[in-house]
Amino acid sequence: MRVDIITCLPSLIESPFAHSIIQRAIAQEKVEINIHDLRAYATNKHRQVDDAVYGGGAGMLLMIEPIARCIDALRAKVNYQEVIYMAPDGELLTQGMANQLSLQENLLILCGHYKGIDERVRAHFITREVSIGNYVLSGGELAAAVLVDSVVRLLPGVLSDSTSALTDSFQEDLIAPPAYTRPAIFRGMEVPPVLLSGHEKAIEAWRYEKALERTKERRPELGINY
Ligand code: ADE
Repeated sequence: MRVDIITCLPSLIESPFAHSIIQRAIAQEKVEINIHDLRAYATNKHRQVDDAVYGGGAGMLLMIEPIARCIDALRAKVNYQEVIYMAPDGELLTQGMANQLSLQENLLILCGHYKGIDERVRAHFITREVSIGNYVLSGGELAAAVLVDSVVRLLPGVLSDSTSALTDSFQEDLIAPPAYTRPAIFRGMEVPPVLLSGHEKAIEAWRYEKALERTKERRPELGINY
């Protein structure tokens, strides 16, 4: 997979891709992530990418010109299945959306900043708008990092245990069951004995039961199997 991200704050989005699972996925060439500085596509000498809102009002908007130039330049080289704009009023990110996006070859993600972007970008360049939750962030960069993380970890071969993405919370509309590691007893708090029993079938049944219990308790709107 190839992911291109357009931002006016490149350094804000570099770090999440320089660690752990995503860093390894890049090193193993499962994904290529390119960050593009919107300012490089500005036409004026101050490299200005934002301007005041027509009709008046507080805040600055990202201008259409540098965004259009950047998207055009990228689209001339790459065929994107989606051109995504990160926006608080977009479609809510779900595990299902991450699964679906993980099947695509090339994604282009635009991060807004300040008060947003010129509406003509949304109308004419964007194919999908994605929100990571019903709250407003200072810009789309952190949201884009969340989206990319949720997608890249699903790519084949990225997680070392090939089944571990399948047992994540939400993957089957179920919350993951409780999990424990050493020591077996800490200050009198014990790990459920079944997990130490070595009985694979019993462990699997216990985990499924706990996953159902947790889903009912914490996210009753998710469950599909009861
Ligand atoms: N930009 C600002 N807030 C956002 C949100 N909640 N999701 C996606 N992009 C955003």
